[in-house]
Amino acid sequence: MRSGAGTDARIGYFRFGVEFMTPAIPAGMFAQSVTEVEHYTNTLFRFRITRPESFRFRSGEFVMIGLPGHDRPVFRAYSIASPAWDDQLEFYSIKVPDGPLTEHLQRIQPGDTVLMRPKPTGTLVNDALLGGDRVYMFATGTGVAPFASLIRDPETYQKFGQVILCHCCRTVAELTYGRNLVASLADDPLVGEAAALQLRHYTSATREEHPHRGRLTELLATGQLFTDLGLPPIEPDCDRGMICGSAAMLRDTKSALESFGLVEGSNNAPATFVIERSFVG
Ligand code: A2P
Repeated sequence: MRSGAGTDARIGYFRFGVEFMTPAIPAGMFAQSVTEVEHYTNTLFRFRITRPESFRFRSGEFVMIGLPGHDRPVFRAYSIASPAWDDQLEFYSIKVPDGPLTEHLQRIQPGDTVLMRPKPTGTLVNDALLGGDRVYMFATGTGVAPFASLIRDPETYQKFGQVILCHCCRTVAELTYGRNLVASLADDPLVGEAAALQLRHYTSATREEHPHRGRLTELLATGQLFTDLGLPPIEPDCDRGMICGSAAMLRDTKSALESFGLVEGSNNAPATFVIERSFVG
């Protein structure tokens, strides 16, 4: 297996002792090996792939992912869930029944090939926010992926005094990826110490019993989220926000943050909150 942008080759690989030939890799595309796959529920899984040596990105950005095997492979935007310093790339994905990409992607195994377009992009990055005392990260479902990258990046802890990851899912099982990740930070040599002091993880479920029930937008509107965290309501002078979820969740959380006086920022004009609009759940 080899990797690298600009290849246009047929790649041979073995499974069960039989050599298969994967179809041609489109020019200008990275072809990477799957290194690990973990399934959480019948709708959620994560996978890791090798990282091309020349590939650079900022924590929180996304990239287009596809699978070889078709004349015109289907690509979808995937937030990179691993931090910018990691030597592999991690992705967290939903399994969409009959989804043109995830129907196949959910069956990948270590050693398989995943295609990746070479240019990462996105607005859910530290650069698009002004510094502050606290950054709230609001995620629903697989929208936690870019934050999985950002909470493993030392820069996040340098830029913000407190990092509050708020993750809401329909069921408690869907919170597992985020929970495992936060727990793993205790042993993380790079951010473990900072995370222990500065990171808070707030989870809520909407369709099952859980200590915190309800949508993040409802918990913001009632102030319950602040009561639970023991913090004052969001204040534009010191608080920052980042949002990732479905289109409806982005819209509603954006108006919630605007009602606190936060202003949307971008790479060119950093401000007090940012949204990732290209996210596909
Ligand atoms: P709910 O169960 O009330 O729909 P989904 O899987 O549909 O993306 O939802 C993930 C989580 O996001 C669910 O807990 C869901 O709550 C919640 N959610 C859905 N739409 C919104 C919205 N417009 N604003 C805030 N949270 C939302």
